Amino acid sequence: EKGGYDHFMLKEIYEQPSAILDTFRGRLLSNEAIIKMVGVEDNMKKFLAADRIIVVACGTSWHAGLVSEYIFEDLARIPVEVEYASEFRYRNPVITEKDVVIAISQSGETADTLAAIKLAKSKGAFVFGVCNVVGSSIARESDAGAYTHAGPEIGVASTKAFTTQITVLTLMALRLARAKGTISSSEFRHHLIELEMIPAKVEEALKSDGYVQTIADIYKDATNFLYLGRGYNFPVALEGALKLKEISYIHAEGYPAAEMKHGPIALIDEQMPVVVIATKKGHYEKVVSNIQEIKSRKGKIIGIVTKGDKSVKELADHVIEVPETLECLTPLLTTIPLQLLSYHIAVMLDKNVDQPRNLAKSVTVE
Ligand code: M6R
Repeated sequence: EKGGYDHFMLKEIYEQPSAILDTFRGRLLSNEAIIKMVGVEDNMKKFLAADRIIVVACGTSWHAGLVSEYIFEDLARIPVEVEYASEFRYRNPVITEKDVVIAISQSGETADTLAAIKLAKSKGAFVFGVCNVVGSSIARESDAGAYTHAGPEIGVASTKAFTTQITVLTLMALRLARAKGTISSSEFRHHLIELEMIPAKVEEALKSDGYVQTIADIYKDATNFLYLGRGYNFPVALEGALKLKEISYIHAEGYPAAEMKHGPIALIDEQMPVVVIATKKGHYEKVVSNIQEIKSRKGKIIGIVTKGDKSVKELADHVIEVPETLECLTPLLTTIPLQLLSYHIAVMLDKNVDQPRNLAKSVTVE
């Protein structure tokens, strides 16, 4: 059932190229240059009339929501707020009939997310679910939705659910951008072509596995890790840190790279591995200067870079390359080595990768 892999998590990491393809199926029609999403089409008026989108989710799904904030605002020019479902529901939030609420949940059973959408519905908002499990509670409770079609995710650490959630949200943002006219038809077409190349590029990113194992072996005994990224890759830094925490029990924090100087920089010494996502285009020069700051404090730098990168290579202790793509699609690639890094460290530390202590696959308690 693990398809020859030692753990479900590794199997699910390796399933991502085909999972993303399944997410595209019937939706991304690049020959015709269209995106077809029934749940969006049927409710286009509501999306176009929305003053803002509120995303509610927990954990990794919340990180996918953060990535979508950048995409929706960038491409479709719709203001987005991303909320932890648990905080949203307990603070008497301002919600009206003009709000569109997107609930993201792999399991579709997360109690806080479910309660948040019930609250939003009671205030008249339109609720759109992005779930993986077909027929789940959140899918049923939503007014409309789009499934991720990632297939069953067994490992407690979410991997393919994350990348397929980002894929669905990107398709939605592009579809809405087209409808609103905030993207030209040639730009739209360009995005579709680039998106279609993502599964093959994920496949290529997976080839870093051997080198990631070498890095895992060097740093597995560290007691703290810092993950940094900017823009589209800031949520990826959060996600990388969460993956490491939950399966290896090593303390890790994700930060927007520029926030480092406002506090976390004090933590950096020769014991501290810092994983920096430094792909081309995404404020690259700024991230390079952040890397210099880490280096001058003797931190160990593991850079996630665009293939062919030179500047980071000169500064970092290790670099892991991912293929080049559009900036808004980089999270789908930069996530891959971070998943592998946490996986290998946890295996080397002999942890229960698929069922980490104290955690459940779906959190059905509030
Ligand atoms: O099923 P959901 O997407 O609603 O689950 C949300 C979180 O519980 C989940 O993403 C959790 O953070 C994962 N264990 C992360 O790997």
